[in-house]
Amino acid sequence: MIDRTPVTPENLRAAARVLHASRCPVVLTGAGISKESGIPTFRDALDGLWAQYDPQQLATPGAFRRNPKLVWDWYEYRRELLAQAQPNPGHRALVELERLLGCLVVITQNVDGLHQAAGSSDVITLHGDIRRNKCFANCQGDPTLIDVSTLDWDRASGPPRCPHCGAYVRPDVVWFEEILPAAALERAFRVCEDADVALVVGTSGMVQPAASLPFVAKEHGAFVIEVNPLPSAITAIADWSFAGAAGEVLPRLVTALAEWVAHEP
Ligand code: OAD
Repeated sequence: MIDRTPVTPENLRAAARVLHASRCPVVLTGAGISKESGIPTFRDALDGLWAQYDPQQLATPGAFRRNPKLVWDWYEYRRELLAQAQPNPGHRALVELERLLGCLVVITQNVDGLHQAAGSSDVITLHGDIRRNKCFANCQGDPTLIDVSTLDWDRASGPPRCPHCGAYVRPDVVWFEEILPAAALERAFRVCEDADVALVVGTSGMVQPAASLPFVAKEHGAFVIEVNPLPSAITAIADWSFAGAAGEVLPRLVTALAEWVAHEP
């Protein structure tokens, strides 16, 4: 049985003290932190994206080559979902945490841009950004970003064509079988090696190489605090694993830190 940490005022105060004493904290987030913004996660059995769709049919270069319209339309559907989404109290709590601590790197697997929209100032996006598009051939370099608002095409036909080379335009997100943006991944590993506290929020810890980052932090001496309603692949290495939703636990954690800072001896 994996021990979870009860979300009690005492435990939150203890975690706040650990964060307050940290020199260089890092936050690692997954789809769970955006769940309370109305964005489906991936592996949730009932409403996760992968419960309704087969990722191998939608989120791979081969799927796009086989049926560019199907894949493009699926991302357009997800972008419509996102257009309604706002940062939730979990995203905003991380912005306040950055203000209280003076520095905070957020490493996210999410492509929704909600950390940036909330105001986090240092976000490493490991899997790209669904709001951006690029040439499938990256004909001008990786990535060859394309602003589709400047293009005129028959949207019913699926994706537009790259104005430089004629290849299809695709979302600027990492698909299965693809490598992550090298600079982002390299910095993410370096930050996790240096971190003395790693706050891991809303990830199942199933997808590499992102899932190895909490282990790298742990191996380099970081104190690992998890926030997730359910156990994950990270829980076993967490020093504390708060069993709760990001939108509920993170604001309470930040309030405990603010109270500690206000009354510290
Ligand atoms: P998953 O869908 O695998 O996991 C979401 C996690 O969030 C689960 O552990 C849930 O228990 C947890 N969760 C659900 N609601 C939550 C809440 N309110 N607060 C906190 N946690 C909550 O999503 P990820 O771990 O992010 O890859 O998946 C990683 C990658 O798999 C994604 O980035 C995507 C996908 O393939 C790419 O797009 C390349």
